[in-house]
Amino acid sequence: MHESILAYRHRRYLWLALAVVAASIAGYWWHDPQEPPNGGTVFGYTLGTIGAFLIGWLTWFGIRKRRYSSTLGTVQGWLSAHVYLGLTLIVVVLLHSGFQFGWNVHTLAFVIMVLVIASGLFGVYAYMKYPERMSLNRGGAPRSELVDQLEEIDRRSLRVAEQLGPEFHEFVASGVQRTQLGATLWDRIRGRDRSQVLLRSGGATSVVSNKGQEAALDWVAEQQSRAGDAETQAAIGELSALIRNKRRLLKQLGEDLKLQAIVEIWLYAHVPLTAALLAALTVHIVTVFLYW
Ligand code: HEM
Ligand code: HEM
Repeated sequence: MHESILAYRHRRYLWLALAVVAASIAGYWWHDPQEPPNGGTVFGYTLGTIGAFLIGWLTWFGIRKRRYSSTLGTVQGWLSAHVYLGLTLIVVVLLHSGFQFGWNVHTLAFVIMVLVIASGLFGVYAYMKYPERMSLNRGGAPRSELVDQLEEIDRRSLRVAEQLGPEFHEFVASGVQRTQLGATLWDRIRGRDRSQVLLRSGGATSVVSNKGQEAALDWVAEQQSRAGDAETQAAIGELSALIRNKRRLLKQLGEDLKLQAIVEIWLYAHVPLTAALLAALTVHIVTVFLYW
């Protein structure tokens, strides 16, 4: 779906956006305000009003987009228009202000607008790039299938551990219980594995980090080297293979969560910055009407 946002209906919104840009540049060229171009000329007011309408409309899109039952065109079409018309704002507002900037709320509105647009650009990039990478990482399977496989491995590990005795059972059960991946957004972005496992050595037990299932694999290897009979050795070997499988699956899942987080994180900038933009813009418009 996301590939087609930019190409939607023979790029009709790209052409519309180019027309808006061309008309703004032509107007700027022809308009002779008898003073340096700025937001207060007739042409300046016209472009400012167009810019403010565009921003209002782009914001409305956020609400509109969620109403899938609406009959006002497709979500894809709206997103395509949102992206292309959103980009025209840079030209429209630059020409509105006559390239004049100062340390004031007008310039603040402009800077926030550029940040909203930059985060939107990253969003489009992420939507085009990451879904394919996510699918490749999961080998084409949905995430739920990886989770099912993980649960199956845990079940089989518990069964093998039961044969091996209470010490093994306690070890595997704690590893299952304390597997923790991507608890917070930051953990997901960093690909942090906070899994732990309870290990018993001698009479003492301790809960240690089980990042990448390293601690579990080390413990199992140690038990295997100590095992007396061939049957126990084989069972421990099976457990070790299961844990290695679990490690591979956790790595895939961690990567999946990480990519998903990247696909979403820009919205944490785009949406609050939109609110800030509306606030700064309101102040801008109110002050020019009060003081102009
Ligand atoms: C109804 C919409 C708008 C109106 C009536 C309006 C009005 C004005 C006026 C009268 C000025 C000249 C002020 C001065 O020179 O002191 C101005 C300048 C400016 N406007 Fe707007 N504007 C509108 C929309 C926007 C939008 C959407 C943005 C950007 C987000 C924007 C950014 C600026 C900037 C950066 C300047 C130049 C400030 C400076 O000279 O330091 N305006 N605007
Ligand atoms: C000042 C201009 C803009 C404003 C005010 C604005 C505002 C918004 C808002 C309010 C949403 C809804 C977010 C949500 O709640 O899910 C949204 C979504 C989106 N925006 Fe913008 N936007 C602007 C410019 C852009 C630009 C230039 C791009 C791309 C180049 C862009 C890309 C996107 C995308 C891809 C979404 C869809 C997010 C989703 O699927 O959930 N935006 N925008």
